[in-house]
Amino acid sequence: MSNELKVTFQPSGRSVYVLPGTLLLEAAGRVGIALQTPCGGKGTCGKCKVRIAQGDCAPSPSGNDVLSALQISEGFRLACQAHIETPLVVEIPAESLFDASGQILTGDTGEIADLKPVVRKEHFALAPPTSEDARSDVTRITDAVGDIEIPHDLLQKLPGFLRANSWTGTAVIVNGRLTGLEVGNTSQEAYGVAVDLGTTTIVATLFDLATGEASALASSMNPQVGFGDDVIARISRILENHGALAELQQSALKALNGLIQTLTEEARIPARHIYEIVVAGNSTMQ
Ligand code: FES
Repeated sequence: MSNELKVTFQPSGRSVYVLPGTLLLEAAGRVGIALQTPCGGKGTCGKCKVRIAQGDCAPSPSGNDVLSALQISEGFRLACQAHIETPLVVEIPAESLFDASGQILTGDTGEIADLKPVVRKEHFALAPPTSEDARSDVTRITDAVGDIEIPHDLLQKLPGFLRANSWTGTAVIVNGRLTGLEVGNTSQEAYGVAVDLGTTTIVATLFDLATGEASALASSMNPQVGFGDDVIARISRILENHGALAELQQSALKALNGLIQTLTEEARIPARHIYEIVVAGNSTMQ
């Protein structure tokens, strides 16, 4: 940690600590700043140029081919070629930013889909045990909601839950297996998220699993563009640096979690009522 170097990007003011030798392009990607990289980071297009406002960053040989001598003397560098060796403050010109606005195709909410959810929620109201009805708690609940597998942790929780909630509640069942016990009747509160994980953009739709209605929709740029505009560039990056795969995965996951938060806020539902997430993408994204 002690040898990590702070890099601050302007005008956003976002900063990140990186190991010496990290590419400026990667550092920017880590704080969600996506730069244009049409050549895939080969140092030939000049679109990823940034200006070093503070700190030292040696010009790269390929920068000499695409940046003028004046630009280099003014501190301009190619983010895909420049390695970080000192703490830096870096200015990002607006034209170097990857702009996905206007490219995200989304539908309207309110669409009704024919869903086949794997989650099933069953409200139950059981008769308490009596001397005439001495069925076990497990028999009592399976008689009410059907034959289900009950994992060990819920088996332990079941007796206390039933007695604390007057023998009523909602069973959350996934593929015939009990996965949760909820207080009250929440059988109609079940949501799923369908995600289109695109190379450039991510679109997420929140579906009401009870009605099939699309309740909310959110989209964002795929932050993986910081590792290369196209998937081939990202594959090359991973081949050169195996650690990049985990970084790419984490950046997509972070964006996905951000979209899910937006969906839950828009639909005003608790995230715990999302039971299924389906992600579709091309072969490379998968
Ligand atoms: S020069 Fe093309 S991405 Fe850097």
